[in-house]
Amino acid sequence: MGSSSISITSTGLFVILSSLWSSFSYANGCYPSIISFGDSLADTGNLKQLASISNQPLPVLSPPYGQNFFDQSTGRCSNGRLIIDFLAESLELPLVPPFLQDNGINNVLAFKHGVNYAVAGATALDPSVLEPMGIVNPMTNASLGVQLAWFKQSLPSICGNDSNCRDFIGRSLILVGEIGGNDYNYPILEGKPVEEIESFVPLVIDTIMSAINDLIEMGAKSLVVPGNFPIGCLASYLTVCGSENEAYDPETGCLVRLNQFAEFHNELLLRKLNQVQELHPDVNIIYADYYNAAMEIYRFPYKHGFTNGALKACCGGRGRYNYDTSVICGEASATVCDEPDTYVGWDGIHLTEAAYRIISKNLFSTPQFKSLCSKSTSRLGLSASL
Ligand SMILES: *[C@@H]1O[C@H](CO)[C@@H](O)[C@H](O)[C@H]1NC(C)=O
Ligand SMILES: *[C@@H]1O[C@H](CO)[C@@H](O)[C@H](O)[C@H]1NC(C)=O
Repeated sequence: MGSSSISITSTGLFVILSSLWSSFSYANGCYPSIISFGDSLADTGNLKQLASISNQPLPVLSPPYGQNFFDQSTGRCSNGRLIIDFLAESLELPLVPPFLQDNGINNVLAFKHGVNYAVAGATALDPSVLEPMGIVNPMTNASLGVQLAWFKQSLPSICGNDSNCRDFIGRSLILVGEIGGNDYNYPILEGKPVEEIESFVPLVIDTIMSAINDLIEMGAKSLVVPGNFPIGCLASYLTVCGSENEAYDPETGCLVRLNQFAEFHNELLLRKLNQVQELHPDVNIIYADYYNAAMEIYRFPYKHGFTNGALKACCGGRGRYNYDTSVICGEASATVCDEPDTYVGWDGIHLTEAAYRIISKNLFSTPQFKSLCSKSTSRLGLSASL
């Protein structure tokens, strides 16, 4: 599905764009736009559009998702804003619109300050690679490669000719991920042994690096590449993988083995990013340490106002962690907490807006993030208050 049903209208938009381009202005002297690839951690509405094209009802696209978003609209995998939304706000840019929309013209005008290709449920690896390993993606086939293909296909209608597009890409902040988490989520939650899943982590990392190299070749100068979350702290994994035989971190109550797995992915990613950075000193590659930014909350939930502890989901079913595979958030039978801001977990897999806000704040206060803007301009946008 998906890729074949999306057609990109380009002729005619060219003229509008050229005039837009000449009046192109920086929002806060930092980046004029954000280009994003990834999965549910960054999707601002693409899965919603794909699901409506294919008439695929998904709980994750139903209320109470979005209940605390400005207009209560669905399409984001949380009760409100995501890290990408806080990133856009901190750069004084509009929230990044999903690439897949109904109306071509509105599309392109909306993309002046950014475009988001991330699709909830997406994997880094293509289904053609995952399926022979027995891994089936029930949500979407819009893998990182598909998203990159959409990007290349849509460039002429977004930025015109090659030199304008190179300029557009070079001035944009490009968010690559988080991606790869779902390559592991599906098999782990299906009960495949972690040792088996570990064996294809290098393949996932290579796929992400190949996308990054592609983007650099196309002119990217500022890339933010997030790692994976401490998945051993998520209610879904705690419920499905928890047992008497598992080691739990005494400080947080998280599953040690799964957190180590996430760190394994992150370490490999960071090592490869450092190699690419060395090859391209003129490009700013920022590793976004989602793992440690989130661990701060899991270690000190009360300090950040998460008075229900860090491990329970706000929306879902019964059970120690409010997660029940037979009562999924977004289904009529699910229950929703009264105060989502006091929970870290939203639905057992994704976090609440309150958690994403603090994670964003932790991230944007790191020196790496502050260096993002300073390389191209003296004005810092990322230190703006959140
Ligand atoms: C690209 O388009 C711009 C106008 O938007 C024009 O000034 C420029 O010469 C074009 N470049 C090439 C290589 O065609
Ligand atoms: C993904 O593609 C396969 C064919 O390769 C198709 O059978 C399947 O329905 C697709 N899945 C989704 C969620 O679109």
